Amino acid sequence: MVIRDARQEDIPAIAALESACFSDPWPEDFIGRWLEKILVAEKDGRLLGYAALSDVLDEGSLDSVAVDPAFRRMGTADALLEAVLDRARERKLTFVTLEARAGNGAAIALYAKHGFVQVGRRTNYYERPREDAILMTLVL
Ligand SMILES: CC(C)(COP(=O)(O)OP(=O)(O)OC[C@H]1O[C@@H](n2cnc3c(N)ncnc32)[C@H](O)[C@@H]1OP(=O)(O)O)[C@@H](O)C(=O)NCCC(=O)NCCS
Repeated sequence: MVIRDARQEDIPAIAALESACFSDPWPEDFIGRWLEKILVAEKDGRLLGYAALSDVLDEGSLDSVAVDPAFRRMGTADALLEAVLDRARERKLTFVTLEARAGNGAAIALYAKHGFVQVGRRTNYYERPREDAILMTLVL
């Protein structure tokens, strides 16, 4: 598996992953505008997953992580998270924050494994379905 920067030709595959993974997927034009923030995991020419890291000054935000349902529990998200956090350290970010659905046990376990801790909760933050958000932060 290779972790690399996303390229223009990855947009349709990223959009397909978004649709497979989320009830409110990012549209292709949005993905195009965010391309420089996205890392993808690729194996044998197939896109297995991606993660997006944005930053403002020294603050990072992990905006999305998703893995193809057919390729889960194989360490892809682990590899993406490691690459994202390497990048955050290279950029000398002070911390990285994220939000996850309160019921998303897989994502919360993934983030906790990489050192993120819960710092807050936003009531009814998500829609379709309505659900609280858990806020997590990793101080680098
Ligand atoms: C969350 C998600 C990205 C994990 O991807 P993955 O490639 O299957 O994860 P990995 O195989 O790298 O697992 C890494 C760690 O994540 C956690 N994890 C992953 N899937 C899990 C599950 N179903 N239940 C509990 N923990 C899980 C574990 O801590 C795991 O470490 P371990 O194998 O040592 O126990 C994937 O389930 C996904 O795409 N979900 C839908 C999109 C989503 O919810 N994204 C997060 C938005 S906040």
